[in-house]
Amino acid sequence: MQTEIARTDSELNTNDAVRSAVSALQTGDVVALPTETVYGLGADALNPNAVEKIFSAKERPHFDPLIIHVPHKTALYEVAEISADIAKTVTQLVETFWPGALTLVLPKKPIIPDIVTGGLPTVAVRQANHPIFHRIAKNFGGPIAAPSANLFGLLSPTSCQAVADQLDGRIPLIVDGGACGQGLESTIIKIEPGENKPIIEVLRPGPVTEVELKKFGKVVFSEKNFDVEEAAPEAPGMLANHYAPRETPLRLLESPESFSPEEGKRYALLSYRGQSKDGYVDLHDWDEVSVLSPGSGRVAEAGIRFFHVMRQLDLLNVDEIIAEPVPDRGVGKAILDKLRKATAK
Ligand code: TXA
Ligand code: MG
Repeated sequence: MQTEIARTDSELNTNDAVRSAVSALQTGDVVALPTETVYGLGADALNPNAVEKIFSAKERPHFDPLIIHVPHKTALYEVAEISADIAKTVTQLVETFWPGALTLVLPKKPIIPDIVTGGLPTVAVRQANHPIFHRIAKNFGGPIAAPSANLFGLLSPTSCQAVADQLDGRIPLIVDGGACGQGLESTIIKIEPGENKPIIEVLRPGPVTEVELKKFGKVVFSEKNFDVEEAAPEAPGMLANHYAPRETPLRLLESPESFSPEEGKRYALLSYRGQSKDGYVDLHDWDEVSVLSPGSGRVAEAGIRFFHVMRQLDLLNVDEIIAEPVPDRGVGKAILDKLRKATAK
């Protein structure tokens, strides 16, 4: 299959790209689309045959449910059941964060096919905040199922090139909307009534942070590992696919002392701010040092650059990527979560 890339570098090209993407969705095909978090691989959420193509293009197991993207806020009520005891909180969250990087897990309406939710009684929903995605979603009109546009278990793509590296030849179309503004997948939450105030359970940390969510309820972090994709234990090895990147092993250090290099191995450092005083930059004669947030260090900047920097480190063919910890606050929580899961592989 030839993968076409639709550019959005002029009004004319954007109009064509939107038309092609909507037409692909309408005819039951998949299309890679830019969102403000990461690129998604979209299909008509109400068409099981189209959704099946997402699973096969990504080599994703069917038990791993997809997020659906609604074209406008009120469409949430067409796909999810919202019980009276959490209705007010849901409205407040949607009014505050949508369109944006917050995904709500709620009981599903029968209209959502089982293939989307992996047979679960719940569905994950968000409204993406990206001008091109928004135009496509609005013109298409229905919900779009879209997981991150990567092969199962590999790095999420934050540029058109990153999608093409993994899915070229496996999907018909990529809409190139430039680099993703947030760079990390959405925060996924579940809402329970609670005694005094609602309980907001964070299933996957992301760009919408604990501090922001605290205004709407008691925030707890799930112990369970919900993002099956990130936790995929043997996924890269399972994928006998020449499009797959090498996926260099990655290890998060808890302290500089915990690093003992093996003779003859090549190591790259994923550094938070690239400063000697943090204790990692001068620890070893690194083959490469990549910095997430140059200068004074900002977790938000590190989040935006994370997958891009990881992808570049992966292309170096070193034996192992060694990561410094980032601060455990704000978006840093999401980065640490990903680094810990990668280390556990
Ligand atoms: O920012 C994002 O969320 C991106 C963009 C494209 O929207 N999408 C994304 O989708 O990250 P995906 O499929 O790569 O990750 C979604 C995760 C799944 O791994 C799954 O664990 C979780 O969401 N999920 C989906 N439905 C769920 C449900 N009903 N209950 C619990 N977790 C669910
Ligand atoms: Mg994913």
